Amino acid sequence: MRIVLGVTGGIAAYKAAHVLRGLREQGHEVRVVPTEAALTFVGRATWEALSGQPVSTTVFDGVEQVEHVRIGHEAELVVIAPATADLLARARAGIADDLLTATLLTATCPVVAAPAMHTQMWENPATVENVAVLRERGWTIIEPAVGRLTGADSGPGRLPEPEDILEAALAAAHAPSAPVQQDTSSAEAGETGPLHGTSVVVSAGGTREPLDPVRFLGNRSSGKQGAALAAAAAAAGADTTLLAANVDSAVLADLPTNVQVDEVSTTAELQAACMAHASTADVIIMAAAVADYRPAQAAEHKMKKSGGGLVLELVENPDILRGLVEARDAGLTRTGQTLVGFAAETGSPETPAHELAQQKLLRKGTDLLVFNDVSGDRAFGQDDNTVVVYRPGDAGAQEVARSTGSKAHVSHDVIRAIIAERTR
Ligand code: CTP
Repeated sequence: MRIVLGVTGGIAAYKAAHVLRGLREQGHEVRVVPTEAALTFVGRATWEALSGQPVSTTVFDGVEQVEHVRIGHEAELVVIAPATADLLARARAGIADDLLTATLLTATCPVVAAPAMHTQMWENPATVENVAVLRERGWTIIEPAVGRLTGADSGPGRLPEPEDILEAALAAAHAPSAPVQQDTSSAEAGETGPLHGTSVVVSAGGTREPLDPVRFLGNRSSGKQGAALAAAAAAAGADTTLLAANVDSAVLADLPTNVQVDEVSTTAELQAACMAHASTADVIIMAAAVADYRPAQAAEHKMKKSGGGLVLELVENPDILRGLVEARDAGLTRTGQTLVGFAAETGSPETPAHELAQQKLLRKGTDLLVFNDVSGDRAFGQDDNTVVVYRPGDAGAQEVARSTGSKAHVSHDVIRAIIAERTR
C-alpha cells in the first residue's frame, strides 16, 4: 500500500519511527509528512533515511508536481502518530496551513489517528468534540494508552505502542469497504469489521463478596485484559457489552464509546447479568476473576473486633461459565454461541500451569480457553501479558494461538482466534 505517515509535534514522535519501520518491513511504501513542530523532536534526516522518500512540511516544496494534492490522492491509508490536540482541531476545522493538513483534505482513503497529549488536553471538551466529529466523518481514532506522561503526571494520553498502532491502522485499511471521509455516522470504524452483526459479551475485573457494609472478599484483577478484549471486539465490528466487576474507573474511562458497560459487583450479580445476555449473545468471553466462595452470611452492620481470632464460614459460589455451557448445550441460549473461558494459573510442584489450563478447558466444556500464566508477579495489574489459546481437539487440548505483548495486542489475537473458531 501507499501510506502517508503524518507525524505531529509531540514528545512521542520518536515512536513514529518504529511505526514507520514496521510499515516498511511489511512492504508498504511510506511517505512521511511531519509538521514543522514534529521536526523539533525527530529530524528530517531520520524520516528520509527510514522511508527512503523526500520529506517536506510545506505546500511550497515540489510545487511543480502539486504535491499537496498528489500525496493525498495517491494515499491508500493515512496514519497520524502522534496526533496532537492541535492537529485534531485543525483537521476538524478543515484548515490546510501545512502539507499534512492539506493532504488530509485531499485524501479519500481511511485515516487512522493515534492521539498523544496530556490528560487535560485529551479530556478538554474541545478535543472531545473534535474527536467525535472526526470519528463521525469516518476517521479511526485509537484511544490513547493510560500511563506516565511527559511530566510527573499520568493518565490517559500516552501514545499506544507502535505495534498496536500498526495493527489498528492495517485493520482499518483492510476492513471491507474501509470507511472513507464521509459525513455519515454509518462509517464508524467498527461497523465494517469481521464481527459486524455479532453480539459479544465480555466479563472483566473481579467479583467481590461482602463481609459487612465496608469489607469484602475479593481478588487482584484490574479488569484491564477484559476491557482490552471488549475494545478489540468493538474494533472488529461487534456489538459489544462489558460486564464490569469492580473494574478501575480509569480503565472504564479509556474504553471506546461504542462499548456498552454494565457494572456488577458480586458473583450473583455477574451471573444474573451473564444469564440475561445469554439468549442474545453470539460470543461470551469470561475474563472476569470470579470469587469461588462467599461468606455464608454478610453482617448487616460493621463487624467489631471481639478479641481472639475470627472464623469465617464460606459457601461455594455457582460456576457461571459451567452454567452457561450447560444452558447452551441444553439449547436454552443463543444457537451457535461461542463460549470462551480464561484460566489464570500459577501451576504447582506437581502440575505445570499449562497442563492445569488444558484440564480446565476439558472440565469446563468451553469452545476456547485462554491460558494466562500468572506465576510470579505476571499479569495482574500489568500492561503486558502472554496467553495461549486452546480448543478441545481429538487428542485433548489443542493450541490454536499464542500471543505476547500489550493487553491490547493480545486481545486482538484472542479475537482473531474467536473469529477463526466461529468460521471453522
Ligand atoms: N468462572 C466462572 N464462575 C466461577 C469461577 C470461574 O464463570 N465461579 C470462570 C472464569 O471467569 C474463567 C474460568 O471460569 O473464565 C476459569 O476460572 P478459574 O477461577 O481459573 O477456575 P475455577 O473454575 O475457579 O477452577 P479452579 O478453582 O479449579 O481453578
